Amino acid sequence: MATVIDGKAVAQIIRSEIADEVRLLSQKYGKVPGLAVVIVGNRKDSQSYAGMKRKACAELGIKSFDVDLPEQVSQAELIKQVHELNVNPDVHGILVQLPLPKHINEEKVLTEISLEKDVDGFHPLNIGKLAMKGRDPLFLPCTPKACIELLQRSGVSIKGKKAVVVGRSNIVGLPASLLLLKADATVTIVHSHTSQPESIIHEADIVIAAAGQPMMIKGNWIKPGAAVIDVGTNAVDDPTKKSGYRLVGDVDFEEASKVAGWITPVPGGVGPMTVTTLLKNTVEGAKRYIE
Ligand code: GUN
Repeated sequence: MATVIDGKAVAQIIRSEIADEVRLLSQKYGKVPGLAVVIVGNRKDSQSYAGMKRKACAELGIKSFDVDLPEQVSQAELIKQVHELNVNPDVHGILVQLPLPKHINEEKVLTEISLEKDVDGFHPLNIGKLAMKGRDPLFLPCTPKACIELLQRSGVSIKGKKAVVVGRSNIVGLPASLLLLKADATVTIVHSHTSQPESIIHEADIVIAAAGQPMMIKGNWIKPGAAVIDVGTNAVDDPTKKSGYRLVGDVDFEEASKVAGWITPVPGGVGPMTVTTLLKNTVEGAKRYIE
Protein backbone atom coordinates (compact mmCIF):
# COMPACT_ATOMS: atom_id res chain seq x y z
CA MET A 1 0.00 0.00 0.00
CA ALA A 2 1.19 3.49 -0.87
CA THR A 3 2.19 6.10 1.67
CA VAL A 4 -0.61 8.66 1.53
CA ILE A 5 0.89 12.16 1.39
CA ASP A 6 -1.06 14.38 3.77
CA GLY A 7 -1.15 17.75 2.02
CA LYS A 8 -3.06 19.33 4.86
CA ALA A 9 -0.37 18.38 7.38
CA VAL A 10 2.49 19.56 5.13
CA ALA A 11 0.59 22.81 4.44
CA GLN A 12 0.21 23.33 8.19
CA ILE A 13 3.97 22.99 8.73
CA ILE A 14 4.70 25.45 5.91
CA ARG A 15 2.07 27.86 7.25
CA SER A 16 3.76 27.96 10.63
CA GLU A 17 7.08 28.65 8.86
CA ILE A 18 5.38 31.50 6.96
CA ALA A 19 3.84 32.89 10.17
CA ASP A 20 7.34 33.01 11.71
CA GLU A 21 8.66 34.96 8.70
CA VAL A 22 5.73 37.39 8.83
CA ARG A 23 6.41 38.00 12.53
CA LEU A 24 10.11 38.61 11.84
CA LEU A 25 9.36 41.15 9.08
CA SER A 26 7.03 42.95 11.41
CA GLN A 27 9.57 43.01 14.29
CA LYS A 28 12.54 44.02 12.12
CA TYR A 29 10.93 46.50 9.73
CA GLY A 30 7.41 47.16 11.01
CA LYS A 31 6.08 45.90 7.65
CA VAL A 32 3.30 43.47 6.80
CA PRO A 33 3.31 41.45 3.55
CA GLY A 34 0.38 42.32 1.29
CA LEU A 35 -1.40 40.22 -1.36
CA ALA A 36 -3.84 41.67 -3.90
CA VAL A 37 -6.41 39.35 -5.45
CA VAL A 38 -8.15 40.70 -8.54
CA ILE A 39 -11.37 39.02 -9.66
CA VAL A 40 -13.39 39.86 -12.74
CA GLY A 41 -17.03 38.73 -12.75
CA ASN A 42 -18.68 36.35 -10.32
CA ARG A 43 -17.70 32.84 -11.33
CA LYS A 44 -18.43 30.62 -8.36
CA ASP A 45 -15.10 28.79 -8.48
CA SER A 46 -13.12 32.05 -8.64
CA GLN A 47 -15.06 33.50 -5.71
CA SER A 48 -14.44 30.35 -3.71
CA TYR A 49 -10.66 30.37 -4.43
CA ALA A 50 -10.53 34.03 -3.52
CA GLY A 51 -12.37 33.39 -0.26
CA MET A 52 -9.85 30.68 0.69
CA LYS A 53 -6.95 33.02 -0.11
CA ARG A 54 -8.39 35.84 2.01
CA LYS A 55 -9.02 33.53 4.96
CA ALA A 56 -5.51 32.08 4.78
CA CYS A 57 -3.99 35.59 4.60
CA ALA A 58 -5.91 36.65 7.69
CA GLU A 59 -4.73 33.56 9.59
CA LEU A 60 -1.07 34.28 8.83
CA GLY A 61 -1.06 38.04 9.35
CA ILE A 62 -0.79 38.89 5.64
CA LYS A 63 -2.82 41.89 4.52
CA SER A 64 -5.17 41.14 1.64
CA PHE A 65 -6.34 43.69 -0.89
CA ASP A 66 -9.48 42.73 -2.79
CA VAL A 67 -10.27 44.14 -6.20
CA ASP A 68 -13.63 42.89 -7.46
CA LEU A 69 -14.50 44.07 -10.94
CA PRO A 70 -17.72 43.51 -12.89
CA GLU A 71 -17.85 40.97 -15.74
CA GLN A 72 -18.17 43.79 -18.31
CA VAL A 73 -15.10 45.74 -17.13
CA SER A 74 -12.91 46.91 -19.99
CA GLN A 75 -9.42 45.58 -20.49
CA ALA A 76 -8.07 49.12 -20.13
CA GLU A 77 -9.76 49.53 -16.73
CA LEU A 78 -8.46 46.16 -15.52
CA ILE A 79 -4.93 47.09 -16.61
CA LYS A 80 -5.29 50.47 -14.86
CA GLN A 81 -6.13 48.64 -11.63
CA VAL A 82 -3.10 46.38 -12.08
CA HIS A 83 -0.87 49.44 -12.58
CA GLU A 84 -2.18 50.96 -9.35
CA LEU A 85 -1.34 47.77 -7.46
CA ASN A 86 2.10 47.71 -9.12
CA VAL A 87 2.98 51.03 -7.48
CA ASN A 88 1.24 50.44 -4.15
CA PRO A 89 4.09 49.95 -1.64
CA ASP A 90 1.88 47.89 0.69
CA VAL A 91 1.19 45.29 -2.01
CA HIS A 92 3.93 42.69 -2.54
CA GLY A 93 1.98 40.16 -4.56
CA ILE A 94 -0.65 40.54 -7.27
CA LEU A 95 -2.85 37.70 -8.46
CA VAL A 96 -5.36 38.11 -11.27
CA GLN A 97 -7.76 35.21 -10.99
CA LEU A 98 -8.10 33.17 -14.19
CA PRO A 99 -9.98 32.56 -16.40
CA LEU A 100 -10.82 36.12 -17.45
CA PRO A 101 -13.94 36.93 -19.50
CA LYS A 102 -13.55 36.37 -23.26
CA HIS A 103 -13.34 40.06 -24.20
CA ILE A 104 -10.13 40.44 -22.16
CA ASN A 105 -6.75 39.33 -23.49
CA GLU A 106 -5.27 37.27 -20.66
CA GLU A 107 -1.69 37.50 -21.93
CA LYS A 108 -1.84 41.31 -22.18
CA VAL A 109 -3.10 41.61 -18.61
CA LEU A 110 -0.58 39.16 -17.13
CA THR A 111 2.24 40.99 -18.91
CA GLU A 112 1.25 44.22 -17.12
CA ILE A 113 1.81 42.74 -13.64
CA SER A 114 5.08 43.93 -12.15
CA LEU A 115 7.64 41.11 -12.38
CA GLU A 116 8.53 41.68 -8.73
CA LYS A 117 4.89 41.15 -7.67
CA ASP A 118 3.99 38.26 -10.00
CA VAL A 119 3.27 35.76 -7.20
CA ASP A 120 1.47 33.42 -9.62
CA GLY A 121 4.59 33.27 -11.78
CA PHE A 122 2.43 33.65 -14.92
CA HIS A 123 4.18 36.70 -16.41
CA PRO A 124 5.62 35.55 -19.77
CA LEU A 125 9.10 36.60 -18.65
CA ASN A 126 8.90 34.52 -15.48
CA ILE A 127 7.57 31.54 -17.46
CA GLY A 128 10.27 32.08 -20.08
CA LYS A 129 12.97 31.97 -17.42
CA LEU A 130 11.39 28.83 -15.96
CA ALA A 131 11.76 27.24 -19.39
CA MET A 132 15.45 28.13 -19.78
CA LYS A 133 18.44 26.36 -18.33
CA GLY A 134 20.40 28.39 -15.80
CA ARG A 135 17.77 31.14 -15.49
CA ASP A 136 15.70 31.62 -12.38
CA PRO A 137 12.24 33.18 -12.45
CA LEU A 138 11.38 35.52 -9.55
CA PHE A 139 8.35 33.36 -8.71
CA LEU A 140 7.32 29.78 -9.47
CA PRO A 141 3.66 29.00 -10.31
CA CYS A 142 1.95 27.90 -7.10
CA THR A 143 0.37 24.54 -7.91
CA PRO A 144 3.42 23.08 -9.69
CA LYS A 145 5.67 24.39 -6.91
CA ALA A 146 3.34 22.75 -4.38
CA CYS A 147 3.65 19.41 -6.23
CA ILE A 148 7.45 19.53 -6.11
CA GLU A 149 7.42 20.53 -2.44
CA LEU A 150 5.14 17.57 -1.61
CA LEU A 151 7.56 15.21 -3.38
CA GLN A 152 10.59 16.69 -1.65
CA ARG A 153 9.06 16.76 1.82
CA SER A 154 7.97 13.12 1.35
CA GLY A 155 11.56 12.11 0.58
CA VAL A 156 10.96 11.32 -3.11
CA SER A 157 14.05 12.13 -5.16
CA ILE A 158 13.47 13.67 -8.58
CA LYS A 159 16.93 13.85 -10.15
CA GLY A 160 17.36 11.29 -12.94
CA LYS A 161 13.84 9.90 -12.49
CA LYS A 162 11.29 9.37 -15.26
CA ALA A 163 8.46 11.82 -14.70
CA VAL A 164 5.20 11.99 -16.63
CA VAL A 165 2.92 15.01 -16.46
CA VAL A 166 -0.65 14.41 -17.57
CA GLY A 167 -2.09 17.66 -18.99
CA ARG A 168 -0.43 20.72 -20.52
CA SER A 169 -2.37 23.70 -19.16
CA ASN A 170 -0.56 27.01 -18.66
CA ILE A 171 -1.52 26.97 -14.98
CA VAL A 172 -0.39 23.46 -14.00
CA GLY A 173 0.74 20.89 -16.59
CA LEU A 174 3.18 22.96 -18.60
CA PRO A 175 4.94 24.71 -15.67
CA ALA A 176 4.98 21.42 -13.70
CA SER A 177 6.87 19.77 -16.56
CA LEU A 178 9.36 22.67 -16.65
CA LEU A 179 9.91 22.48 -12.89
CA LEU A 180 10.53 18.73 -13.06
CA LEU A 181 13.03 19.33 -15.87
CA LYS A 182 14.80 21.99 -13.76
CA ALA A 183 14.98 19.35 -10.99
CA ASP A 184 16.79 17.03 -13.48
CA ALA A 185 13.98 14.55 -14.15
CA THR A 186 13.45 13.05 -17.62
CA VAL A 187 10.07 14.50 -18.47
CA THR A 188 7.27 13.38 -20.78
CA ILE A 189 3.99 15.23 -21.19
CA VAL A 190 0.86 13.22 -21.93
CA HIS A 191 -2.12 15.16 -23.33
CA SER A 192 -5.44 14.70 -25.11
CA HIS A 193 -3.74 13.81 -28.42
CA THR A 194 -1.32 11.27 -26.94
CA SER A 195 -1.97 7.72 -28.10
CA GLN A 196 -1.86 5.01 -25.45
CA PRO A 197 -1.19 7.30 -22.48
CA GLU A 198 -1.38 4.30 -20.16
CA SER A 199 1.82 2.74 -21.55
CA ILE A 200 3.73 6.04 -21.10
CA ILE A 201 2.37 6.62 -17.61
CA HIS A 202 3.31 3.05 -16.70
CA GLU A 203 7.00 3.91 -17.26
CA ALA A 204 6.93 6.81 -14.80
CA ASP A 205 8.63 6.93 -11.42
CA ILE A 206 6.75 10.18 -10.80
CA VAL A 207 3.29 11.06 -12.14
CA ILE A 208 1.75 14.52 -11.87
CA ALA A 209 -1.87 14.27 -12.97
CA ALA A 210 -3.46 17.55 -14.07
CA ALA A 211 -5.85 16.63 -16.85
CA GLY A 212 -9.16 17.55 -15.22
CA GLN A 213 -10.61 14.13 -16.07
CA PRO A 214 -12.23 12.34 -13.11
CA MET A 215 -10.42 9.08 -12.24
CA MET A 216 -8.98 8.61 -15.74
CA ILE A 217 -5.74 7.12 -14.43
CA LYS A 218 -6.37 3.54 -13.34
CA GLY A 219 -4.41 1.46 -10.86
CA ASN A 220 -2.90 -0.77 -13.54
CA TRP A 221 -1.50 2.31 -15.37
CA ILE A 222 0.80 3.00 -12.42
CA LYS A 223 4.30 1.58 -12.12
CA PRO A 224 4.62 -0.24 -8.77
CA GLY A 225 6.28 2.05 -6.24
CA ALA A 226 5.77 5.26 -8.26
CA ALA A 227 5.01 8.63 -6.63
CA VAL A 228 1.63 9.93 -7.77
CA ILE A 229 0.63 13.57 -7.30
CA ASP A 230 -3.00 14.18 -8.20
CA VAL A 231 -3.89 17.79 -9.00
CA GLY A 232 -7.39 16.96 -10.27
CA THR A 233 -10.36 18.36 -8.37
CA ASN A 234 -13.40 17.14 -10.24
CA ALA A 235 -16.92 17.36 -8.85
CA VAL A 236 -18.90 14.19 -9.60
CA ASP A 237 -22.55 13.52 -8.74
CA ASP A 238 -23.03 11.70 -5.44
CA PRO A 239 -26.61 11.45 -4.19
CA THR A 240 -25.39 10.12 -0.82
CA LYS A 241 -23.86 13.56 -0.07
CA LYS A 242 -25.86 16.49 1.23
CA SER A 243 -24.31 18.70 -1.46
CA GLY A 244 -25.19 16.14 -4.15
CA TYR A 245 -21.55 15.85 -5.27
CA ARG A 246 -18.11 14.82 -4.13
CA LEU A 247 -14.62 15.73 -5.28
CA VAL A 248 -12.44 13.16 -7.02
CA GLY A 249 -9.00 13.42 -8.57
CA ASP A 250 -7.71 12.49 -12.02
CA VAL A 251 -6.42 9.25 -10.48
CA ASP A 252 -8.52 6.31 -9.33
CA PHE A 253 -7.25 6.56 -5.74
CA GLU A 254 -8.76 3.30 -4.54
CA GLU A 255 -6.91 1.27 -7.20
CA ALA A 256 -3.75 3.36 -7.51
CA SER A 257 -3.05 3.46 -3.77
CA LYS A 258 -2.60 -0.34 -3.88
CA VAL A 259 0.21 -0.02 -6.47
CA ALA A 260 1.95 3.34 -5.92
CA GLY A 261 4.74 4.03 -3.44
CA TRP A 262 3.32 7.46 -2.56
CA ILE A 263 0.03 9.09 -3.49
CA THR A 264 -1.84 12.30 -2.72
CA PRO A 265 -5.55 12.06 -1.87
CA VAL A 266 -8.31 14.33 -3.24
CA PRO A 267 -9.33 16.29 -1.30
CA GLY A 268 -6.49 16.85 1.20
CA GLY A 269 -3.49 16.48 -1.10
CA VAL A 270 -2.37 19.24 -3.44
CA GLY A 271 -5.38 21.51 -2.72
CA PRO A 272 -4.35 22.78 0.73
CA MET A 273 -0.80 23.27 -0.55
CA THR A 274 -1.69 25.58 -3.45
CA VAL A 275 -2.95 28.51 -1.36
CA THR A 276 -0.13 27.95 1.12
CA THR A 277 2.40 28.23 -1.70
CA LEU A 278 0.79 31.46 -2.87
CA LEU A 279 1.27 32.89 0.62
CA LYS A 280 4.85 31.66 0.66
CA ASN A 281 5.48 33.42 -2.66
CA THR A 282 3.91 36.60 -1.26
CA VAL A 283 6.22 36.57 1.75
CA GLU A 284 9.23 35.89 -0.51
CA GLY A 285 8.18 38.90 -2.61
CA ALA A 286 7.75 41.04 0.48
CA LYS A 287 11.19 40.05 1.80
CA ARG A 288 12.86 40.92 -1.51
CA TYR A 289 11.05 44.28 -1.52
CA ILE A 290 11.58 45.21 2.12
CA GLU A 291 15.01 43.81 3.02
N1 GUN B 1 -7.41 29.81 -11.64
C1 GUN B 1 -7.26 28.51 -11.27
N2 GUN B 1 -6.07 28.35 -10.65
C2 GUN B 1 -5.47 29.54 -10.65
C3 GUN B 1 -4.22 30.00 -10.14
O1 GUN B 1 -3.41 29.27 -9.60
N3 GUN B 1 -3.97 31.33 -10.31
C4 GUN B 1 -4.83 32.15 -10.94
N4 GUN B 1 -4.48 33.43 -11.07
N5 GUN B 1 -5.98 31.77 -11.41
C5 GUN B 1 -6.31 30.47 -11.27
